[in-house]
Amino acid sequence: MTSALFSPLRLAELNLANRIVVSPMCQYSANDGAATDWHVTHLGMLANSGAGLLVVESTHVERRGRITHGCLGLYSDACEAALARVVAHCRRIGSAKLAIQLSHAGRKASSQRPWEGGQALPESEDAWPTIAPSALPFGSGWHTPRAMTEDDMARVRKAFVDAAKRALRIGFDAIELHMAHGYLLHGFISPVSNARNDAWGGTLEGRMRFPLEVARAVRAVVPQGTPLGARCTGHDWLDGGLSAADAVVLAKALKGAGLDYVDVSSGGVSARGQASVPKNLGYNVPIAEQVRREGGLPTRVVGLIVKPKQAEAIVAEGRADMVALGRAFLDDPHWGWHAAQALGGEVTHPPQYQRASPALWPAAASRG
Ligand SMILES: Cc1cc2nc3c(=O)[nH]c(=O)nc-3n(C[C@H](O)[C@H](O)[C@H](O)COP(=O)(O)O)c2cc1C
Repeated sequence: MTSALFSPLRLAELNLANRIVVSPMCQYSANDGAATDWHVTHLGMLANSGAGLLVVESTHVERRGRITHGCLGLYSDACEAALARVVAHCRRIGSAKLAIQLSHAGRKASSQRPWEGGQALPESEDAWPTIAPSALPFGSGWHTPRAMTEDDMARVRKAFVDAAKRALRIGFDAIELHMAHGYLLHGFISPVSNARNDAWGGTLEGRMRFPLEVARAVRAVVPQGTPLGARCTGHDWLDGGLSAADAVVLAKALKGAGLDYVDVSSGGVSARGQASVPKNLGYNVPIAEQVRREGGLPTRVVGLIVKPKQAEAIVAEGRADMVALGRAFLDDPHWGWHAAQALGGEVTHPPQYQRASPALWPAAASRG
């Protein structure tokens, strides 16, 4: 049996052992943007999950661009040193290639950790002013952001470039830009959050202009051999919001900007839209399929991908080149090992855990 999910993939000059990706997942456990022992544990474990690529959570390019007080950043030497320690650890003990997601939270910044309420920070919890394309809050009770000036845009663009340089110095194998989930770059692209009537708003072309400038500026410092991708939105799930056709236009533009792949996610642009995000397994797959077919660059898909056979079918049927899983990896940090067992694929076990491999542990077949 040959598994499509366990076939290798080359992105730019990076060879991935398989098509399984650990989706970026905020841990809200950083100390002024700097990674902590939690990240050593969490990412060290997932570097040994059987996934070919592990994407480090949203890492914010400026301090005020963090979602919460606990979010990772890459805006200071202290942030860089702390993340370098985590990456060195993952390299020593794990086998996954390592990517980092660079982001700016825009109007969703200055909020509480999910387990502290997940709402906008009150003044008593050290809230900070937020910026966005337009002065429109994410929802009722959220901070009203200040509409960005061209000076703000220049500063944020440079912050993305500087963070990418830090990521390269740390030695990440790939970099991805967060253009989804209602954060700053998605905020520009969506008409739900961008009401500007200058050159940075209006038509889709105008709304994509700032995110594309960021993409081109980052591409200019990331060597061609190092994959640069973007997580995009396939649908806002709101009347008047972005849809799959817009995602295709964005994917083509990103390809033109020299990006190597896109990831299709969806939702998160407004508190209004949260309830209408579909809940069926693989709900972004039809959108990713369209983006892959019409956009013309390698495509990853995420969203309620849970079972090995489901993931296998997505890749085998050519609906996406890679699958990203989030919660399934939190639930089972060895998801890739178990998928390999189910599909006849091969994964690297660290020597300390080899005795749990199906070859050396006959009971593996009956673990259910
Ligand atoms: C705890 C947690 C943190 C997340 N943080 C991020 C993040 O940093 N960046 C991002 O793009 N998506 C983030 N997401 C979304 C996931 O990457 C993924 O797209 C989403 O959970 C859907 O995939 P799943 O059904 O496999 O979990 C997060 C999800 C979870 C559960």
